[in-house]
Amino acid sequence: MFQIVKSEKLADKIYLMDVKAPRVAHSCQPGEFVIVKMDEKGERIPLTICDYDREAGTVTIVIQTVGASTEKMVRLKAGDFFEDVVGPLGNPSDFVREDVEELKKKKYLFVAGGVGTAPVYPQVKWFHEHGLDADVIVGAKTKDLVILEKEMEAVAGNLYVTTDDGSYGRKGMVTEVIKDLVENQGKHYDVCVAIGPMIMMKFVCLLTKELNIPTIVSMNPIMVDGTGMCGACRLTVGGKVKFACVDGPEFDGHEVNFDEAMKRQQMYKTEEGRAMLKLMEGDTHHGGCGNCGGDE
Ligand code: NAD
Ligand code: FES
Repeated sequence: MFQIVKSEKLADKIYLMDVKAPRVAHSCQPGEFVIVKMDEKGERIPLTICDYDREAGTVTIVIQTVGASTEKMVRLKAGDFFEDVVGPLGNPSDFVREDVEELKKKKYLFVAGGVGTAPVYPQVKWFHEHGLDADVIVGAKTKDLVILEKEMEAVAGNLYVTTDDGSYGRKGMVTEVIKDLVENQGKHYDVCVAIGPMIMMKFVCLLTKELNIPTIVSMNPIMVDGTGMCGACRLTVGGKVKFACVDGPEFDGHEVNFDEAMKRQQMYKTEEGRAMLKLMEGDTHHGGCGNCGGDE
């Protein structure tokens, strides 16, 4: 059992929890995720790690309520327990394995959209802890939906907050800020990391392709069981079939077929859609194990 030591509402439908999970906290890296199970019969919910405290043995997760399971999850309070917290899963962000001296020669731009701010935070914090300055754009629909601003401010080189309605910070979507920084303010970026809703990542990638900035995206949103078994997170990257939970979750955004991934995500939600996908994808329909039966 894994005890919740802190539970806090960050914004409408967005909650933060610190969970005692010493083994995960000891070894997790930016980019990885955990699977949380509320009780024995509970759904497996993959969630990106927002922060970790190796000494306290806690990991921080941010939950956006999207259905019955997440609604039930956020009703838990400090002192309550999760049945299971499995992880760390997935692959760490590429920069974790890079030589820090080489990284110092590159300028990174992190683009966080809405709840995607949570997985961006540990990456920017990692940069800060390694003496690297990164620029960060945080976008949200309105002022009330901007999360982790103070935390991000403490670790970012420059932080640009933008809201779609202009109720806080700049006005406009994250893509408008990228354009402004590069085209009007003379900024140069070697790598962009964009994490947020699929539609945001798609449009950031279209823009950064034009601007010639290599871009990494996180395909967490299409994951369901997070173990390579269900096949939900199948996507095409550079013409090859990949599974976000085992091959990712981070990929070269300029190689990701977003339209296919978004269409597939919608189809996967219905029984009829899954039957159609199975027909279309044959033996490769399911994930890593290839013989689990998945949705049969
Ligand atoms: P949102 O819809 O409020 O969008 C956040 C920001 O993204 C906007 O303020 C805007 O700046 C930008 N954006 C949105 N559409 C855009 C477009 N067409 N062009 C350019 N920029 C655009 O975000 P939300 O409701 O907080 O996001 C929820 C989604 O984020 C969920 O679907 C969830 O799955 C996803 N998410 C993704 C990750 C990940 O790892 N990629 C992590 C957590 C959450
Ligand atoms: Fe099920 Fe990846 S989330 S195979």
